[in-house]
Order: sequence, then C-alpha cells, then structure tokens
Amino acid sequence: MSVRVSKYFDALTETRAWRSVFRGGSGSSTLHRSMAIQQNIFLHLLSTKVRKRMISLNTTWYLGTLTLGTFGILVITGILLMLYYHPSAPQAYADTKDLQFVVSSGQFLRNLHRWSAHAMVFLVFAHMFRVFYRGAYRAPREFNWVIGVVLLLLTLLLSYTGYLLPWDQLAYWAITVGSNIASAVPVVGDRVRFLMLGGHFVNANALLRFYVLHCMVLPIAALFFVAIHFWRIRKDGGLYAHQKDAASVSNCDSGRPQL
Ligand code: HEM
Repeated sequence: MSVRVSKYFDALTETRAWRSVFRGGSGSSTLHRSMAIQQNIFLHLLSTKVRKRMISLNTTWYLGTLTLGTFGILVITGILLMLYYHPSAPQAYADTKDLQFVVSSGQFLRNLHRWSAHAMVFLVFAHMFRVFYRGAYRAPREFNWVIGVVLLLLTLLLSYTGYLLPWDQLAYWAITVGSNIASAVPVVGDRVRFLMLGGHFVNANALLRFYVLHCMVLPIAALFFVAIHFWRIRKDGGLYAHQKDAASVSNCDSGRPQL
C-alpha cells in the first residue's frame, strides 16, 4: 500500500504543475535540497540546514511552534465564525446565541476559538519564559526578542478586542473597565479612550471598531511580525541551543549570525 502511495507521489512530483510550484524538487544533493527551500515561497523563511540539537524537544519545548499552531486554529475558526456574525448592536448578541444553539457545530466552533485563544495567551507567555530562562534573548537575538514583545502585545490585544464581540454583559463591562483604565493615562487618557471606543461610552461604534481590529488589523499585523520573527531566527544563526556538549560547539551554535 505504502509503496503504491509513494509511486503516485513520485509521479505527482514529476508533473509540470508540481514543477512549476516546487522548482528545486526534493533533490538528492545538499545543493538541490537547499535550492528547494530557497525557491519555495512557503519555505524560504526557514533555514536550509539545521542542527538536530536545535530542533530537539528539550531545546524549545516546541512552545513557539505550538503558539503558531493555536494562532492557525484561531484564524481558521475565526473565519468560520465571521460567516455567522454581524458586528452591529443588538444583532451581535443574537448571532452569538444562534451560534450557540442554532448553527450546527456552532457551539463547538465557538468553544474551539475561545479555548485556543486562552491557550495562545498561555503558550506565548510560556514561550517567552523559555526564551528568557535559556538566555536565548542575548546577542545576536535581542532584536528578535523585541519583535517577540510586539507579538506578545498583539496577542493580548487580539484577546481583548475579541472579548467585546459577543456583546453580552460580561463583554460590555469588561471593555468598560478596560477603557476606563486607559482613560487614567496622564494627559492623553481621555483621548485614548475616545479613540478606542469611537465615543465616550461602549456602544455600537466601539463594537465596530473592535471588530475591525480583531478580524483585520491585528491578525494581519501579527502575521507580518511572525514572518519577521521567523526570518530573524534564520539570520541570527538558527535557534539557540544550550552548549552542554563542548565537542559539538560550532560557529552556528555560538550565536554568530548566519547570512
Ligand atoms: C505570536 C507569538 C509568537 C510566535 C508564533 C512565536 C514563534 C516562535 C517560534 C516557532 C520560534 C522557534 C522556536 C520555538 O518553537 O520555540 C520562536 C523563537 C523565538 N522567539 Fe518567538 N514567538 C512568539 C512570541 C514571542 C515572544 C513574546 C518572545 C519574547 C518576548 C519571543 C522571542 C523569541 C526568540 C528570542 C526566539 C529565538 C529563540 C532561540 O533562538 O532559541 N517570541 N518563536
């Protein structure tokens, strides 16, 4: 069975359509394999070569990868939720209830989105602590740490803006409290709150603003910074692997940037 599958796969990789997308092919030499990665739009952010130690579970606990995984789930479930949701008051609340009780698998979809959001916040902090305690923020990775901080803020903002969308009492009061905290900022506080809510109170304007931020601006910004984050890992010489084993220390492991 597996022989037949691999035969079909080999035949597929020989087709003109496949070759037009994956120009380098899988290849048998290191050069071919490097070219396959460099010339592929989906793979070119990744290193052409990695050390086994760098991608072992102990090095990263795969926390960044898991964060990205939850982000992927959130994007997919978010797009599906958008098909049933109108960002207008009071329709938003009715749509949320419909999702819960009328739409088939709506409750599952909503819960998957909510729990993935909680998981992403937890994982992004865990990832940050792992980077900190392993000292992976040190030169030459300081800039990637800064990009990481931007990603942390974007994750928290995504969570916060999503909170208002069900348009229920919890959402209303959470955003009222949050925007009041923002208004306590010296000098510009009231203006910040006005900008956040599109007015002085949490109303339909605020809902629309939070919707646009939650579904468009913040996810696009997050994708952009994630791309820089990954590109930067490659430019900083790959992932930082703790140097327990002196014999396997090389330029790459010493954190020297790889161009
Ligand atoms: C949306 C949020 C984030 C995503 C999707 C993400 C993703 C990743 C991935 C996949 C890696 C590869 C290693 C691993 O799996 O752990 C990585 C490495 C790294 N991340 Fe993040 N990250 C995020 C947020 C952050 C935050 C908040 C920080 C710190 C403030 C940070 C700092 C770093 C640094 C310095 C590295 C390189 C670590 C090394 O060389 O070992 N990242 N990130």
